[in-house]
Amino acid sequence: MTGHAVAGRAAAWYRDCAAWFRDSYGVAAGGAWFAPGRVNLIGEHTDYNDGFVLPFALGRGTVAVAGRRDDDVIELRSRQVPGGSAVIPLDSLAPGAIPGWAAYPAGVAWAMRAAGHPVAGFSLVIDSDLPRGAGLSSSAALECAVGLALTDLNGTAMPRSELVTIAQRAENDFVGVPSGIMDQSASLLCRAGHALLLDCRTSEAAAVPFDPAGHGLDLLVIDTGVRRELTDGDYAGRRGECEQAARALGLRSLRDITDISQVSLLPDPLLRRRARHVFTENQRVLETAHLLRAGSLSEAGALLAASHASLRDDFQISWPAADAAVSAVTRAGALGGRMTGGGFGGSVIALVAAGDSARVRAAVRAEFGRQGWHPPRFLDATPSAGARRVLSRSAAART
Ligand code: GLA
Repeated sequence: MTGHAVAGRAAAWYRDCAAWFRDSYGVAAGGAWFAPGRVNLIGEHTDYNDGFVLPFALGRGTVAVAGRRDDDVIELRSRQVPGGSAVIPLDSLAPGAIPGWAAYPAGVAWAMRAAGHPVAGFSLVIDSDLPRGAGLSSSAALECAVGLALTDLNGTAMPRSELVTIAQRAENDFVGVPSGIMDQSASLLCRAGHALLLDCRTSEAAAVPFDPAGHGLDLLVIDTGVRRELTDGDYAGRRGECEQAARALGLRSLRDITDISQVSLLPDPLLRRRARHVFTENQRVLETAHLLRAGSLSEAGALLAASHASLRDDFQISWPAADAAVSAVTRAGALGGRMTGGGFGGSVIALVAAGDSARVRAAVRAEFGRQGWHPPRFLDATPSAGARRVLSRSAAART
Protein backbone atom coordinates (compact mmCIF):
# COMPACT_ATOMS: atom_id res chain seq x y z
CA MET A 1 0.00 0.00 0.00
CA THR A 2 1.30 3.52 -0.77
CA GLY A 3 1.92 6.12 1.93
CA HIS A 4 -1.14 8.05 0.74
CA ALA A 5 -3.37 5.00 0.91
CA VAL A 6 -2.17 4.23 4.46
CA ALA A 7 -2.74 7.84 5.54
CA GLY A 8 -6.20 7.83 3.92
CA ARG A 9 -7.18 4.63 5.69
CA ALA A 10 -5.98 6.00 9.02
CA ALA A 11 -7.91 9.26 8.56
CA ALA A 12 -11.09 7.30 7.79
CA TRP A 13 -10.51 5.25 10.97
CA TYR A 14 -10.13 8.37 13.15
CA ARG A 15 -13.32 9.90 11.67
CA ASP A 16 -15.21 6.68 12.20
CA CYS A 17 -14.16 6.66 15.88
CA ALA A 18 -15.25 10.30 16.28
CA ALA A 19 -18.65 9.44 14.75
CA TRP A 20 -18.94 6.53 17.18
CA PHE A 21 -18.21 8.95 20.06
CA ARG A 22 -21.06 11.19 18.90
CA ASP A 23 -23.44 8.21 18.58
CA SER A 24 -22.45 6.99 22.05
CA TYR A 25 -22.63 10.24 23.97
CA GLY A 26 -24.90 12.50 21.85
CA VAL A 27 -22.31 15.31 21.60
CA ALA A 28 -19.29 16.01 19.39
CA ALA A 29 -15.87 15.02 20.73
CA GLY A 30 -13.12 17.48 21.64
CA GLY A 31 -10.68 15.67 19.34
CA ALA A 32 -8.93 12.36 18.62
CA TRP A 33 -5.46 11.21 19.65
CA PHE A 34 -3.35 8.27 18.47
CA ALA A 35 -0.52 6.49 20.28
CA PRO A 36 1.48 3.66 18.68
CA GLY A 37 2.55 0.29 19.99
CA ARG A 38 6.24 -0.56 19.80
CA VAL A 39 8.65 -3.27 18.85
CA ASN A 40 11.73 -3.54 21.01
CA LEU A 41 14.62 -4.07 18.62
CA ILE A 42 16.94 -5.02 21.48
CA GLY A 43 17.36 -4.41 25.23
CA GLU A 44 14.98 -6.75 27.03
CA HIS A 45 14.40 -6.55 30.80
CA THR A 46 17.09 -3.90 30.98
CA ASP A 47 14.80 -0.89 31.55
CA TYR A 48 13.97 -1.56 35.21
CA ASN A 49 17.66 -2.36 35.78
CA ASP A 50 18.52 1.26 34.88
CA GLY A 51 19.98 0.03 31.57
CA PHE A 52 19.59 0.69 27.84
CA VAL A 53 16.77 -0.13 25.39
CA LEU A 54 16.31 0.41 21.65
CA PRO A 55 12.61 0.24 20.69
CA PHE A 56 10.83 1.75 17.69
CA ALA A 57 7.19 2.76 17.24
CA LEU A 58 4.84 0.81 15.00
CA GLY A 59 2.29 2.23 12.57
CA ARG A 60 -0.34 0.35 14.60
CA GLY A 61 -1.72 1.66 17.85
CA THR A 62 -4.66 3.00 19.82
CA VAL A 63 -7.08 5.82 19.02
CA ALA A 64 -8.70 7.74 21.89
CA VAL A 65 -11.59 10.07 21.08
CA ALA A 66 -12.49 12.20 24.07
CA GLY A 67 -14.60 15.14 25.19
CA ARG A 68 -14.96 17.03 28.45
CA ARG A 69 -18.09 16.78 30.58
CA ASP A 70 -19.14 18.80 33.59
CA ASP A 71 -20.34 16.16 36.05
CA ASP A 72 -16.97 14.94 37.43
CA VAL A 73 -17.57 11.51 35.97
CA ILE A 74 -15.53 9.55 33.46
CA GLU A 75 -17.32 7.29 31.01
CA LEU A 76 -15.32 4.83 28.92
CA ARG A 77 -16.09 2.55 25.99
CA SER A 78 -13.79 0.25 24.05
CA ARG A 79 -14.43 -1.34 20.65
CA GLN A 80 -12.45 -4.33 21.86
CA VAL A 81 -14.80 -4.81 24.84
CA PRO A 82 -18.35 -4.59 23.47
CA GLY A 83 -21.33 -4.23 25.76
CA GLY A 84 -21.77 -0.81 27.30
CA SER A 85 -19.58 1.62 29.14
CA ALA A 86 -17.69 1.90 32.42
CA VAL A 87 -18.95 4.89 34.44
CA ILE A 88 -16.59 6.05 37.21
CA PRO A 89 -16.92 9.13 39.45
CA LEU A 90 -13.57 10.97 39.41
CA ASP A 91 -13.49 11.10 43.20
CA SER A 92 -13.69 7.33 43.49
CA LEU A 93 -10.42 6.73 41.59
CA ALA A 94 -8.10 4.68 43.78
CA PRO A 95 -5.37 2.14 43.00
CA GLY A 96 -6.75 -1.36 42.60
CA ALA A 97 -10.37 -0.14 42.62
CA ILE A 98 -11.14 -0.58 38.89
CA PRO A 99 -10.99 -4.02 37.25
CA GLY A 100 -10.15 -4.83 33.62
CA TRP A 101 -9.18 -2.57 30.73
CA ALA A 102 -10.87 0.55 32.21
CA ALA A 103 -8.14 0.64 34.88
CA TYR A 104 -5.64 1.88 32.26
CA PRO A 105 -7.47 5.07 31.17
CA ALA A 106 -8.82 5.64 34.68
CA GLY A 107 -5.29 5.20 36.02
CA VAL A 108 -3.97 7.91 33.71
CA ALA A 109 -6.58 10.37 35.04
CA TRP A 110 -5.63 9.35 38.58
CA ALA A 111 -1.88 9.69 37.95
CA MET A 112 -2.34 13.08 36.32
CA ARG A 113 -4.30 14.34 39.31
CA ALA A 114 -1.76 12.82 41.69
CA ALA A 115 0.95 14.81 39.87
CA GLY A 116 -1.02 18.01 40.57
CA HIS A 117 -2.64 18.52 37.17
CA PRO A 118 -6.39 19.25 37.06
CA VAL A 119 -8.52 16.68 35.23
CA ALA A 120 -12.20 17.39 34.58
CA GLY A 121 -14.79 14.68 33.88
CA PHE A 122 -14.57 13.22 30.39
CA SER A 123 -16.16 10.77 27.99
CA LEU A 124 -13.96 8.48 25.95
CA VAL A 125 -14.10 5.89 23.20
CA ILE A 126 -11.12 3.68 22.43
CA ASP A 127 -10.24 1.59 19.40
CA SER A 128 -7.02 -0.24 18.60
CA ASP A 129 -5.49 -2.23 15.75
CA LEU A 130 -2.79 -3.70 17.99
CA PRO A 131 -3.15 -7.34 18.96
CA ARG A 132 -3.32 -7.62 22.78
CA GLY A 133 -0.76 -9.72 24.59
CA ALA A 134 1.49 -9.86 21.52
CA GLY A 135 4.40 -8.10 23.26
CA LEU A 136 3.77 -4.92 21.25
CA SER A 137 2.73 -2.63 24.14
CA SER A 138 -1.00 -2.32 23.66
CA SER A 139 -1.28 -1.16 27.31
CA ALA A 140 1.22 1.67 26.89
CA ALA A 141 -0.48 2.75 23.64
CA LEU A 142 -3.77 3.00 25.53
CA GLU A 143 -2.22 4.95 28.41
CA CYS A 144 -0.37 7.35 26.11
CA ALA A 145 -3.35 8.05 23.82
CA VAL A 146 -5.48 8.85 26.87
CA GLY A 147 -2.68 10.86 28.48
CA LEU A 148 -2.33 13.10 25.43
CA ALA A 149 -6.12 13.48 25.20
CA LEU A 150 -6.35 14.58 28.85
CA THR A 151 -3.51 17.10 28.60
CA ASP A 152 -5.12 18.71 25.54
CA LEU A 153 -8.70 18.61 26.89
CA ASN A 154 -7.62 20.21 30.16
CA GLY A 155 -5.21 22.70 28.59
CA THR A 156 -2.29 21.21 30.56
CA ALA A 157 1.16 22.07 29.26
CA MET A 158 3.70 19.38 30.12
CA PRO A 159 6.81 18.02 28.50
CA ARG A 160 6.46 14.58 26.91
CA SER A 161 8.95 13.23 29.41
CA GLU A 162 6.52 14.05 32.24
CA LEU A 163 3.67 12.36 30.41
CA VAL A 164 5.88 9.25 30.06
CA THR A 165 6.22 9.14 33.85
CA ILE A 166 2.50 9.72 34.42
CA ALA A 167 1.56 6.89 32.02
CA GLN A 168 4.05 4.56 33.73
CA ARG A 169 2.68 5.51 37.15
CA ALA A 170 -0.84 4.64 35.97
CA GLU A 171 0.39 1.16 35.08
CA ASN A 172 2.65 0.61 38.12
CA ASP A 173 0.60 2.15 40.91
CA PHE A 174 -3.01 2.09 39.68
CA VAL A 175 -3.17 -1.10 37.59
CA GLY A 176 -0.45 -2.77 39.67
CA VAL A 177 1.96 -3.99 36.94
CA PRO A 178 5.61 -3.26 37.87
CA SER A 179 6.74 -2.51 34.29
CA GLY A 180 9.70 -0.29 33.39
CA ILE A 181 9.79 2.95 31.40
CA MET A 182 10.49 1.59 27.89
CA ASP A 183 7.00 1.18 26.42
CA GLN A 184 5.58 4.57 27.38
CA SER A 185 8.83 6.24 26.24
CA ALA A 186 8.65 4.51 22.86
CA SER A 187 5.00 5.41 22.33
CA LEU A 188 5.49 9.09 23.21
CA LEU A 189 9.04 9.86 22.05
CA CYS A 190 9.77 7.82 18.89
CA ARG A 191 10.29 9.39 15.46
CA ALA A 192 9.48 7.94 12.04
CA GLY A 193 12.45 6.18 10.44
CA HIS A 194 14.25 5.94 13.79
CA ALA A 195 14.64 3.74 16.83
CA LEU A 196 14.92 5.32 20.27
CA LEU A 197 18.09 4.73 22.27
CA LEU A 198 17.03 5.33 25.84
CA ASP A 199 19.24 5.40 28.90
CA CYS A 200 16.72 4.32 31.52
CA ARG A 201 18.80 5.72 34.40
CA THR A 202 19.22 9.26 33.11
CA SER A 203 16.18 9.31 30.75
CA GLU A 204 18.53 10.58 28.04
CA ALA A 205 16.87 9.68 24.72
CA ALA A 206 18.40 9.76 21.24
CA ALA A 207 16.78 9.04 17.87
CA VAL A 208 18.93 6.53 15.96
CA PRO A 209 18.30 6.13 12.20
CA PHE A 210 16.60 2.80 11.58
CA ASP A 211 15.48 2.13 8.03
CA PRO A 212 15.59 -1.59 7.16
CA ALA A 213 14.00 -1.04 3.72
CA GLY A 214 16.69 1.51 2.86
CA HIS A 215 19.29 -1.21 3.52
CA GLY A 216 17.50 -3.84 1.42
CA LEU A 217 16.29 -5.54 4.61
CA ASP A 218 12.96 -6.46 6.19
CA LEU A 219 12.27 -6.56 9.89
CA LEU A 220 9.61 -9.23 10.29
CA VAL A 221 7.33 -9.22 13.31
CA ILE A 222 5.91 -12.67 13.91
CA ASP A 223 3.07 -12.91 16.42
CA THR A 224 3.34 -16.48 17.73
CA GLY A 225 -0.24 -16.32 19.03
CA VAL A 226 0.84 -17.42 22.53
CA ARG A 227 -0.57 -15.09 25.18
CA ARG A 228 0.70 -14.36 28.67
CA GLU A 229 -0.23 -11.26 30.66
CA LEU A 230 2.44 -9.23 32.46
CA THR A 231 0.14 -9.39 35.49
CA ASP A 232 0.82 -13.14 35.72
CA GLY A 233 3.67 -12.66 38.17
CA ASP A 234 6.58 -14.06 36.14
CA TYR A 235 7.58 -10.55 35.09
CA ALA A 236 7.52 -9.30 38.69
CA GLY A 237 9.48 -12.42 39.67
CA ARG A 238 12.31 -11.66 37.24
CA ARG A 239 12.39 -8.06 38.39
CA GLY A 240 12.68 -9.22 42.00
CA GLU A 241 15.57 -11.55 41.12
CA CYS A 242 17.43 -8.71 39.41
CA GLU A 243 17.00 -6.49 42.46
CA GLN A 244 18.21 -9.33 44.69
CA ALA A 245 21.29 -9.84 42.48
CA ALA A 246 22.11 -6.12 42.56
CA ARG A 247 21.80 -6.06 46.37
CA ALA A 248 24.02 -9.13 46.72
CA LEU A 249 26.68 -7.37 44.61
CA GLY A 250 26.34 -4.16 46.63
CA LEU A 251 25.21 -2.24 43.54
CA ARG A 252 22.39 0.24 43.07
CA SER A 253 21.22 -1.77 40.05
CA LEU A 254 22.55 -4.35 37.59
CA ARG A 255 23.37 -1.47 35.24
CA ASP A 256 26.34 -0.83 37.48
CA ILE A 257 28.11 -4.10 36.62
CA THR A 258 31.19 -2.93 34.74
CA ASP A 259 32.88 -6.27 34.04
CA ILE A 260 31.48 -9.75 33.42
CA SER A 261 33.81 -11.16 36.11
CA GLN A 262 31.66 -9.42 38.76
CA VAL A 263 28.80 -11.75 37.89
CA SER A 264 30.76 -14.79 39.14
CA LEU A 265 30.86 -13.23 42.63
CA LEU A 266 27.18 -14.12 43.01
CA PRO A 267 26.92 -17.41 44.94
CA ASP A 268 23.43 -18.24 43.63
CA PRO A 269 23.64 -19.76 40.08
CA LEU A 270 20.15 -18.51 39.19
CA LEU A 271 21.00 -14.91 40.09
CA ARG A 272 24.28 -15.28 38.16
CA ARG A 273 22.29 -16.09 35.02
CA ARG A 274 19.90 -13.17 35.50
CA ALA A 275 22.78 -10.74 36.06
CA ARG A 276 24.74 -12.10 33.09
CA HIS A 277 21.75 -11.50 30.83
CA VAL A 278 21.33 -7.90 31.95
CA PHE A 279 25.04 -7.09 31.65
CA THR A 280 25.47 -8.66 28.20
CA GLU A 281 22.15 -7.29 26.92
CA ASN A 282 23.11 -3.71 27.83
CA GLN A 283 26.30 -4.16 25.82
CA ARG A 284 24.35 -5.55 22.86
CA VAL A 285 22.04 -2.52 22.89
CA LEU A 286 24.96 -0.12 22.71
CA GLU A 287 26.65 -2.16 19.96
CA THR A 288 23.42 -2.29 17.96
CA ALA A 289 22.95 1.48 18.24
CA HIS A 290 26.55 1.91 17.10
CA LEU A 291 25.94 -0.33 14.03
CA LEU A 292 22.75 1.54 13.14
CA ARG A 293 24.54 4.88 13.33
CA ALA A 294 27.36 3.50 11.19
CA GLY A 295 24.90 2.30 8.54
CA SER A 296 25.85 -1.36 9.18
CA LEU A 297 22.38 -2.62 10.02
CA SER A 298 22.86 -6.10 8.58
CA GLU A 299 25.61 -6.77 11.15
CA ALA A 300 23.04 -6.33 13.93
CA GLY A 301 21.55 -9.74 13.07
CA ALA A 302 24.17 -11.56 15.16
CA LEU A 303 23.36 -9.37 18.16
CA LEU A 304 19.65 -10.20 17.86
CA ALA A 305 20.52 -13.90 17.81
CA ALA A 306 22.75 -13.52 20.89
CA SER A 307 19.99 -11.62 22.68
CA HIS A 308 17.55 -14.46 22.07
CA ALA A 309 20.01 -17.07 23.35
CA SER A 310 20.53 -15.00 26.50
CA LEU A 311 16.77 -14.54 27.06
CA ARG A 312 16.23 -18.28 26.53
CA ASP A 313 19.14 -19.66 28.55
CA ASP A 314 20.02 -17.03 31.16
CA PHE A 315 16.85 -15.02 31.70
CA GLN A 316 14.63 -18.02 30.87
CA ILE A 317 11.61 -16.13 29.55
CA SER A 318 11.27 -17.42 25.97
CA TRP A 319 8.55 -19.94 25.13
CA PRO A 320 8.54 -22.97 22.80
CA ALA A 321 6.88 -21.21 19.85
CA ALA A 322 9.40 -18.35 20.10
CA ASP A 323 12.36 -20.73 20.14
CA ALA A 324 10.87 -22.65 17.20
CA ALA A 325 10.27 -19.44 15.23
CA VAL A 326 13.82 -18.19 15.87
CA SER A 327 15.28 -21.56 14.79
CA ALA A 328 13.09 -21.61 11.67
CA VAL A 329 14.04 -18.09 10.56
CA THR A 330 17.71 -18.83 11.18
CA ARG A 331 17.62 -22.06 9.15
CA ALA A 332 15.83 -20.17 6.35
CA GLY A 333 18.66 -17.62 6.13
CA ALA A 334 17.58 -14.72 8.38
CA LEU A 335 20.45 -12.53 9.64
CA GLY A 336 19.12 -12.95 13.16
CA GLY A 337 15.96 -13.20 15.21
CA ARG A 338 14.80 -12.90 18.80
CA MET A 339 11.77 -12.80 21.04
CA THR A 340 10.65 -9.26 21.80
CA GLY A 341 8.79 -7.79 24.79
CA GLY A 342 8.21 -9.06 28.31
CA GLY A 343 8.42 -12.77 27.43
CA PHE A 344 6.43 -15.97 28.07
CA GLY A 345 4.32 -15.22 24.99
CA GLY A 346 3.90 -12.66 22.22
CA SER A 347 6.10 -11.93 19.21
CA VAL A 348 9.43 -12.72 17.60
CA ILE A 349 11.34 -10.38 15.29
CA ALA A 350 13.66 -11.38 12.48
CA LEU A 351 16.04 -9.32 10.38
CA VAL A 352 16.12 -10.69 6.82
CA ALA A 353 17.35 -9.64 3.39
CA ALA A 354 14.24 -8.32 1.62
CA GLY A 355 14.63 -10.94 -1.10
CA ASP A 356 14.51 -13.75 1.48
CA SER A 357 11.46 -12.45 3.30
CA ALA A 358 8.86 -14.68 1.61
CA ARG A 359 11.00 -17.79 2.11
CA VAL A 360 11.58 -17.00 5.79
CA ARG A 361 7.85 -16.46 6.39
CA ALA A 362 7.04 -19.73 4.64
CA ALA A 363 9.58 -21.53 6.82
CA VAL A 364 7.93 -20.25 10.02
CA ARG A 365 4.47 -21.18 8.73
CA ALA A 366 5.70 -24.66 7.86
CA GLU A 367 7.30 -25.15 11.28
CA PHE A 368 4.13 -24.06 13.10
CA GLY A 369 2.15 -26.44 10.85
CA ARG A 370 4.49 -29.33 11.71
CA GLN A 371 4.06 -28.60 15.41
CA GLY A 372 0.25 -28.45 15.05
CA TRP A 373 0.18 -24.80 16.27
CA HIS A 374 -2.12 -22.01 15.04
CA PRO A 375 -0.54 -20.29 12.02
CA PRO A 376 1.69 -17.34 13.05
CA ARG A 377 0.65 -13.81 12.11
CA PHE A 378 3.07 -11.47 10.32
CA LEU A 379 2.83 -7.74 11.00
CA ASP A 380 4.25 -4.78 9.14
CA ALA A 381 7.00 -3.10 11.17
CA THR A 382 7.78 0.26 9.61
CA PRO A 383 9.52 2.49 12.20
CA SER A 384 6.85 5.14 12.74
CA ALA A 385 6.14 8.39 14.56
CA GLY A 386 5.20 8.66 18.23
CA ALA A 387 1.85 9.68 19.74
CA ARG A 388 0.01 12.70 18.37
CA ARG A 389 -3.31 14.48 18.04
CA VAL A 390 -5.03 13.22 14.87
CA LEU A 391 -8.31 15.19 14.83
CA SER A 392 -8.83 18.75 16.01
CA ARG A 393 -12.00 19.76 17.86
CA SER A 394 -13.49 21.21 14.66
CA ALA A 395 -12.53 18.16 12.57
CA ALA A 396 -14.13 15.89 15.20
CA ALA A 397 -17.27 18.07 15.14
CA ARG A 398 -17.57 17.62 11.35
CA THR A 399 -17.81 13.82 11.54
C1 GLA B 1 7.43 -5.12 29.16
C2 GLA B 1 7.54 -3.93 30.11
C3 GLA B 1 8.78 -3.10 29.79
C4 GLA B 1 10.03 -3.96 29.67
C5 GLA B 1 9.78 -5.18 28.80
C6 GLA B 1 10.93 -6.14 28.82
O1 GLA B 1 7.17 -4.66 27.87
O2 GLA B 1 6.39 -3.13 30.04
O3 GLA B 1 8.93 -2.08 30.75
O4 GLA B 1 10.50 -4.32 30.95
O5 GLA B 1 8.62 -5.89 29.19
O6 GLA B 1 12.03 -5.59 28.20
